[in-house]
Amino acid sequence: MEKGTCRANANIALVKYWGKRDETLMLPQNGSISMTLDGMHTTTTVEFLPSLKADEVTLNDALLADGKEFAQVVEHLNIIREMAKIKTFARVASKNNFPTAAGLASSASGFAALSMAAAKAAGLKLNPQELSMLSRRGSGSASRSIHGGFVEWKRGEKSDGTDSYAQQIAPPSHWPNFRMLTTVVSTSEKKVKSRAGMKQTVETCPLYPGWLSSVNADLDAVRSGIKEKDFHKVGATAEHNCLKMHATMIATNPPIIYWNPATMEIIHLVQVMREEGVPVYFTIDAGPNVKVICQEENMQDIEARLKELSGVKNVHVCKPGGPAETLKEHLF
Ligand code: DP6
Repeated sequence: MEKGTCRANANIALVKYWGKRDETLMLPQNGSISMTLDGMHTTTTVEFLPSLKADEVTLNDALLADGKEFAQVVEHLNIIREMAKIKTFARVASKNNFPTAAGLASSASGFAALSMAAAKAAGLKLNPQELSMLSRRGSGSASRSIHGGFVEWKRGEKSDGTDSYAQQIAPPSHWPNFRMLTTVVSTSEKKVKSRAGMKQTVETCPLYPGWLSSVNADLDAVRSGIKEKDFHKVGATAEHNCLKMHATMIATNPPIIYWNPATMEIIHLVQVMREEGVPVYFTIDAGPNVKVICQEENMQDIEARLKELSGVKNVHVCKPGGPAETLKEHLF
């Protein structure tokens, strides 16, 4: 069997995925829309080797010993082994080119790259739709990292998940001056992972039905806003959608508050800049880091003003990025 090496970019949601309707098949309660980030990627090489007695996984050159991360990778390899009808263990090496502290979820790029590389190494020939569904099984948001540009992950209706996959809305070339500035703020408090946070929200938040009843209108607005390149429509809807998601987190029992003072500082600055007439919005995932949404022509000023804030440690500028792809050069 041959080695498979693939690279996938991270993505940030403009309409968030928050809540599962099936935890085994990783089926979402609602659809979501994201932008794939140029240059923030995971590269993964997989080789199935008959000589191995167990799966062997390294992440950023460190061997993953028994633990949650290792177990998730093994579980995902098991899905692929079942699809390919093989029992062989695998050697997996994975590297992120962005710092772990960049405030980006590495699970999206990580499981997209792992799915594509392992499928190739196992001799499976999967189309993008099948790859998206396979990536979804590792981490929901990974289903979107298979495609480049602006991407929608369909909720789907079927209980077997065969209609829950991501599709491209528009390629990166459609809106090349769209920018996402990912700010890194200090993170001292303990973080609740997305998976646990969304489960708790679905189970205990009295506001969750309100989230679900309003998310389809957000999907329609952001989808059409992307097609029309209507920056205000996309930005304003994305910001409101993120605030609604955080409202459900805060109203969960026990509450999950991901924000810290630096998060608030950035939110206020974005509001001030908007009052001054600058087209700028924000979105926030399950953590304190804020992603600032703007267009290239305003980017430099916005970046400079963000860097003036005492709580902001770093700012990474991201353009719309390309799809997951196969590489010829392997990591081992
Ligand atoms: C807030 O995809 O990391 O970033 O499916 O349990 O692995 P699992 O969760 P994950 O959740 C992402 C949540 C979010 C919103 C989003 O990216 O859509």
